[in-house]
Amino acid sequence: MAYSFSKDKIWFLGRGCHEYMSMFKLSPGFLKNHRTLDCAAGASSFVPVLGNQGYMVTALDPLYGRGYEAVKERSIDDFYTLIQAHTGMDDKVDWGFFQNSKNMIEERMKSCKKFVNDYKVFKGIRYIEGRLPELPFNNNQFSLTLCSHLLFLYDDRLDYQFHLDSIGEMLRVTSEEVRIYPLVNLQGDGKKSHFVGRITDDLASEAEVEIVEVDYRFRKGGNEMMKIKKNI
Ligand SMILES: C[S@@+](CC[C@H](N)C(=O)[O-])C[C@H]1O[C@@H](n2cnc3c(N)ncnc32)[C@H](O)[C@@H]1O
Repeated sequence: MAYSFSKDKIWFLGRGCHEYMSMFKLSPGFLKNHRTLDCAAGASSFVPVLGNQGYMVTALDPLYGRGYEAVKERSIDDFYTLIQAHTGMDDKVDWGFFQNSKNMIEERMKSCKKFVNDYKVFKGIRYIEGRLPELPFNNNQFSLTLCSHLLFLYDDRLDYQFHLDSIGEMLRVTSEEVRIYPLVNLQGDGKKSHFVGRITDDLASEAEVEIVEVDYRFRKGGNEMMKIKKNI
């Protein structure tokens, strides 16, 4: 299958565990009953925080194969680039979740550190190298798969076939539900990616697709996630 990718990079960033809980409308009680995969997890602190509390969580990212020093360096590089990118953007994002950019930077820095320290210990255990649209997992190995800030967001460089195949693959390794956030792309006009409607139609025979409003706010229009429940 041919996929089209542009040369523009995809950020290796890490949102915090508390951001994940809000983006995906999760609660500790709900997660206790799931084997959860964070697919395209980057330097997020979702897996470090919950893994250290005994939750069954696994993170996947193509960059996890690079080793501690390289992953640490890339996390820090992207973190500082993010700070520069957000300088002077106070009027362009919704600060409802963080209140202000200073708070966002402090929180994301903490998340990044949690990830780097945990990756050092659990590389190859909780942190698995892999790349959509093919995952190195068994059928139904997880009951819940989360994918944030990759699909739909980068619809200018990841084509429709890649989206369809990646979601199909996440459904293969998941027994119950796949959740994707956000549904907007990088253009910043607040409109859903034009792939959202096509995916909903194309999955209709194998899954129940629902667009769910979430409390999380940051990107314009970024208050919705896609919930894909497998037909059993
Ligand atoms: C913007 S980051 C999002 C990280 C995290 N999910 C979050 O929301 O904070 C996008 C991540 O997708 C990863 N990625 C890029 N191509 C991928 C692919 N084909 N399959 C899985 N992950 C990929 C990148 O390495 C990067 O860590």
